[in-house]
Amino acid sequence: MSLAEPETGAIARPPRLAVLLSGTGRTLENLLVATADGRLCARIAAVVSSAPAVRGLDIAREARLPVTTIVRRDYATDCQFSDAIYNWLAPWDPDLIVLAGFLRRLVVDDRWSNRILNIHPALLPESPAAGRGFYGERVHAAVLASGASRSGATVHVVDNDYDTGPVVARATVPVLQDDTAATLAARVFAAECELYPRAIAQYLSDHPELLRRNPA
Ligand code: GRF
Repeated sequence: MSLAEPETGAIARPPRLAVLLSGTGRTLENLLVATADGRLCARIAAVVSSAPAVRGLDIAREARLPVTTIVRRDYATDCQFSDAIYNWLAPWDPDLIVLAGFLRRLVVDDRWSNRILNIHPALLPESPAAGRGFYGERVHAAVLASGASRSGATVHVVDNDYDTGPVVARATVPVLQDDTAATLAARVFAAECELYPRAIAQYLSDHPELLRRNPA
């Protein structure tokens, strides 16, 4: 997106992203690379992990990002858990929350409606390998079991269920005859590394209201 505001001549600030993760942080790493090499004109402002002692926390710390762990079992409801995350993020005032291997359900209230994106490692909405419990190699094993000839990754807006929000962008990969869940997972993740930064950039460009919310 252009950083110039043609109406005023003012230089707009880069969009601020919050990244939520639960595991290895490969997606965070990829987004850090994409923001550094200019494919994604945005700044990662803060990171939340839903699990303690995961590699994603180390990646965030090495990048000197503000980071914390917020664990679901410390809260009575998904709503309280989600509010704890939103409240912790508030000082960094993110424009968009990006889920990056985040395995918990978020409750999306009015403040965050259309302001949270996720990437799922299968083709939505048609893939049966989606919904609660479909993460990691389980997704790819289910795709192989279904006999599908193609799989891929989908970036979608997060609503109040797992993997059901409106699709923003998809990338397709072939399913090969001798694929295992691991080989298919690797092919899909390689496609994600190009897709997610591009889809986030496109979403920010298509939704300038996300930044006008608070131009300071
Ligand atoms: C990817 O399969 C992605 O589609 C899903 O989480 C996985 C990446 O997790 N949302 P991580 O970045 O390796 O923790």
